[in-house]
Amino acid sequence: MGFFASVDGLITPAHEARVSVLDNGFTFGDAVYETLRTYGGRPFALARHLRRLRASAGRLGIAIPLADAELATRLDALLARAENAESYIRFVVSRGVGDISYHFDKVQGPTVVMVVKPYVFPPAAWRTEGVRVSLVDVRRNHPDALDPAIKSCNLLNNILAMRAAQAAGAMEAILLNASGEIAEGAGSNVFVVRGGEVLTPPLAAGILAGITREVLLELAPGCGVAIRETPLRADDLLGADEAFLTSTLKELAPITRVDDRAIGSGRPGPLTLRLLDAFQRHAPSESI
Ligand SMILES: Cc1ncc(COP(=O)(O)O)c(C=O)c1O
Repeated sequence: MGFFASVDGLITPAHEARVSVLDNGFTFGDAVYETLRTYGGRPFALARHLRRLRASAGRLGIAIPLADAELATRLDALLARAENAESYIRFVVSRGVGDISYHFDKVQGPTVVMVVKPYVFPPAAWRTEGVRVSLVDVRRNHPDALDPAIKSCNLLNNILAMRAAQAAGAMEAILLNASGEIAEGAGSNVFVVRGGEVLTPPLAAGILAGITREVLLELAPGCGVAIRETPLRADDLLGADEAFLTSTLKELAPITRVDDRAIGSGRPGPLTLRLLDAFQRHAPSESI
């Protein structure tokens, strides 16, 4: 089982991997990232993740001079070296090495990093008991300030929210946007079930376009489940029949408590579990 990194194509044990202290990713958080996992040892939805990585980089004016096929080849070499049954995968692309200034023309880059480590499966209790989340006071960054659609390494908004959630004993923070609508989790998208219909905030709520969310929107009609994108308020979550989170690492995690309040029956709901099963059946087919 291995924890390995590739820095501009050079593979080493992760703890020996080095990036310059002058790297803009370190000095400014001037970098973008993706988190993936494998199914059957192969990365899930790599093409979708690379598309989002390039979109995030593009928003920051960072060009990634490697074709998808070259990135995939580097990742394959790293996965082969790590020999994990299943891996967590992180891509980080920073603007590159600068001089701690806003002189972007002096930056040599980008720096292209990949890290893999053994994937830790969600606890079995998530499926039977669900998870507890916390509605935190920290608001999601306003898209006009730092658009959450950019998956940037500038994660202080998420860190402040997670610190508040962890202090409240919850595994995830739910953030409202500046208008008081539900935005997303610190590391996940949010869904609620009401009257047999599944609802989730639209991208216009100022959220990350989650890959799990995207796949689920595609899969749901085939499972006889309607998912509708619509603005949601805190009361929609608190009064939901069921609720769940989605993310690459969590797949679908049933929300059974929001702070001290039980959601629905207080147990993972039937629609949530049906969609979780459908997602788990589908995911290996997109892992190539
Ligand atoms: C803020 C945020 N929202 C949503 C997600 C879920 O995205 P995905 O399904 O692509 O993992 C993540 C994942 O890390 C995230 O950080």
